[in-house]
Amino acid sequence: MKRTLIHQVLQSPALGSDITVAGWVRTRRDSKGGFSFIELNDGSCFGNLQVIADAKLSNYETEVVKLFPGSSVVVQGKLVASQGAEQAFELAAANVKVLGFCEPTEYPLGKQRISFERLREVAHLRARTNSFGAVARVRNALAFATHKFFQDRHFLYLHTPIITASDCEGAGEMFQVTTLPLDKLPRDPETQQIDYKLDFFGKRASLTVSGQLEGETYACALGDIYTFGPTFRAENSNTRRHLAEFWMIEPEMAFADLADDADLAEDYLRFLFRYVLEHCQEDLKFFNDRIDKTVTQTLTSLADSQFRRITYTEAVDILKASGKTFEFPVEWGSDLQSEHERYLTEEHFKGPVTVTGYPKQIKAFYMRQNDDGNTVAAMDVLLPNVGEIIGGSQREERLDRLEARIREIGFDPKDYWWYCDLRRFGSVPHAGFGLGFERMVQFCTGMHNIRDVIPYPRAPGSVEF
Ligand code: 4AD
Ligand code: MG
Repeated sequence: MKRTLIHQVLQSPALGSDITVAGWVRTRRDSKGGFSFIELNDGSCFGNLQVIADAKLSNYETEVVKLFPGSSVVVQGKLVASQGAEQAFELAAANVKVLGFCEPTEYPLGKQRISFERLREVAHLRARTNSFGAVARVRNALAFATHKFFQDRHFLYLHTPIITASDCEGAGEMFQVTTLPLDKLPRDPETQQIDYKLDFFGKRASLTVSGQLEGETYACALGDIYTFGPTFRAENSNTRRHLAEFWMIEPEMAFADLADDADLAEDYLRFLFRYVLEHCQEDLKFFNDRIDKTVTQTLTSLADSQFRRITYTEAVDILKASGKTFEFPVEWGSDLQSEHERYLTEEHFKGPVTVTGYPKQIKAFYMRQNDDGNTVAAMDVLLPNVGEIIGGSQREERLDRLEARIREIGFDPKDYWWYCDLRRFGSVPHAGFGLGFERMVQFCTGMHNIRDVIPYPRAPGSVEF
């Protein structure tokens, strides 16, 4: 169908021209003057196009007056100046073709406001609402901006596997992938252990928690790379910041240290903020008006801001000196909790903070060990409201140190033989990070719950659709 997108019409209206548009009816009301006003949305932008359907249309009584919210139509007509005060122009319909009626008593998205919780139960329709349409467009813009940022810097886009045999983060939060019969698992007669040699891959396999380890192998051959794909974590946390399936962007730079890593992370974040401010103005206005009154102001101030950089030890000192009672007490050696991250970003620094040098006990095995023997070259970037947006590190490039650390945490270096090989054959210092894409969408939209910034959220007990 040759149609004009409503965003084109609204952006550069050619008054007097004959156009065809298609979309879903948001509202329709009858006027006493003998016509109907139809607010039409096609998803190409936030705004609707007002259509005027004259009672003289041949299908007016039989069809047009039966157009309730959610119905789909194709309208052909002339773009004319509007008499109404709310819009400068409207489409005077010469022809309204109904594609699909929508029964108002059954349609879950009527005129009334529906809670985000209820909308999750009708996630196949929620993209038709203002909020979810806007989220989808901002998400799209952030994805495009990500590729633009890295491609402009000559990073290579790498596809890493979704099914893997290695637990990158070592946290044991992996979803298992198997074709073994679950009601009759083959077992070794002596040990009674499950015999994974009979499984599809001949060994135990899982969904990936991170593409980093595979990403490193390409960075140690091609220089700078990035991945952008889905990752899976079976952590049973029912919070507003956790999903079981989320998307992560993981750049990896060869010949780079932790300071280079932090520079890249901060540049990338500022680029995303600027991009959204520039390209999603209409959607942002909606979020700012209706969801979070601080979102535009926050993005604007962060787009050009210097991030504070502190060490973990400094962060602990600040938290201890704060005089606040936290639910989780702060002790050197324990991980920073969401409440601590929020105190640092929202109350103490009133802005983003990059924290480096975490205790090695609470971080993954691959992070480069610092000379103090206690800490690693790790970094977390914290933002107000969402907390940890980025986790990264310089990687341990010294073979003996890496193998010792793998043993220390109870793993066998043999299981990571290919990862260790990178250190055996022409090892180079390298560093990278992972950005949680949904947390970024949350931050840029002000949406409270992470389940409302991904089309089909996967969380404990939730896999409908
Ligand atoms: O800090 P994480 O676990 O780091 C890694 O996975 C490293 N392999 C990254 C790297 O160095 N290449 O996760 C990175 C980010 C977090 O900072 C957070 O934003 C997001 O991923 N994240 C989640 N987002 C939504 N739901 C979850 N369950 C998440 N877990 C982590
Ligand atoms: Mg982390």
